[in-house]
Amino acid sequence: MRIRNGLAVVLIAALAPWGAAADELYDPIAIFLTWQADPLTTMTIDWHTEGEDRPVIVHYRTAGEGPWRSTGGDTREFPFSERLIHRVELTGLEPGTRYEFRFGADSEIYQFETMPENLVDPLRIAIGGDVRHEKEWMDRTNRVAMDYDPHFVVWLGDLAYADEDPRLNYRWYEFFDSIKETLITDDGLVTPIVVMLGNHEVVWLPRLERNDGLHYAEEHGWENHDAIWFYELFAFPKEPGYGTLDFGDYLSLIILNTDHGEPIEGRQTEWLEEQLAARQDIPHVFPMFHVPTFPSVRDWDTWGSVDVREHWMPLFDEYSVRFVYEAHDHAYKRTEPIRGLRVDDRGTVYIGDGAWGVSERDVHPADETWFLRESKSVRHFILTTLQGQHQHHLMVDEHGNHIDEYPEGLTRMQIGD
Ligand SMILES: [Fe+2]
Repeated sequence: MRIRNGLAVVLIAALAPWGAAADELYDPIAIFLTWQADPLTTMTIDWHTEGEDRPVIVHYRTAGEGPWRSTGGDTREFPFSERLIHRVELTGLEPGTRYEFRFGADSEIYQFETMPENLVDPLRIAIGGDVRHEKEWMDRTNRVAMDYDPHFVVWLGDLAYADEDPRLNYRWYEFFDSIKETLITDDGLVTPIVVMLGNHEVVWLPRLERNDGLHYAEEHGWENHDAIWFYELFAFPKEPGYGTLDFGDYLSLIILNTDHGEPIEGRQTEWLEEQLAARQDIPHVFPMFHVPTFPSVRDWDTWGSVDVREHWMPLFDEYSVRFVYEAHDHAYKRTEPIRGLRVDDRGTVYIGDGAWGVSERDVHPADETWFLRESKSVRHFILTTLQGQHQHHLMVDEHGNHIDEYPEGLTRMQIGD
């Protein structure tokens, strides 16, 4: 039983003291936004509590206007923690609109924006992987990314490095602290995140066995699953860890699972083909996943990469995918356009390689590696800007320096920003 009913939550929470001073605004210990469905008209709000007795309800309205509406949600356990995870999905919202929300009349008020109906104005996405080796590094890249006012952030797996180990829960706490401290603007606007699985979100069974995790997994109906924390902590993608987010008729994020509890080949590959086939009229279709097709640090024949090249790359070729995001290698890389395992102007550009907030690794030199156009050992994020049919990708390091740009030499001014 993964979702606890409201009564059980109230009973448990009622045992704990509620100690907030009367004049203090209520503010949960963790808060973040994501989507499970249409980002133009929905928003999923997650918040965490510890020993508090409050109803799981979000009050919301168009910013500064009209009566408050309210929607209830559900509560689940944060594995091996005193924390509870509360989740409410708001639906039926207006596109391109700022809303405000709160957790009760005595609560801090936060804001969010639904995604726009079209790409008349630029849409900015900050993208990267391998997020929290050190909170300080994650904080720094978050802050630089926020300087560019992204509509949302995408993290390509290896989020907190908590490794499905109860002793490492503090890393998740730091991860959510960083979000609360750096992805919310001074006026309370919360930047949504989209996440996916990496190898550090997957349980390592011998370790789980040692720390009594198997007992926990069986009790909670998890005996056949190996990403317990991920699926409790994040509403999307649901098991088996892949899914598509469609932004109107202009953008689709196809989020894939590079063998983190779900094989690359087989039903996921069949699903990927269906997703690509159904979106040939969408101008911006981005497959994104953790283990790179073309590794900038690891060997060519490394685990995962071989399967991605064998099963997914032919589909990227067939459906003329322009851009693929990947991670895992703790460096920056941009490939040449590649089609049929050769450099080809009509090919797909693969960009990565996951160094948002982790220690950097030495890269294969781009000038000696046939598939690499750029490679750098540097923490960074990718700022993807979309407007109409145009894409622009600006790569920025943790100190705000521009380290690469694609298409090369195109300035941001040319796409109207
Ligand atoms: Fe990884």
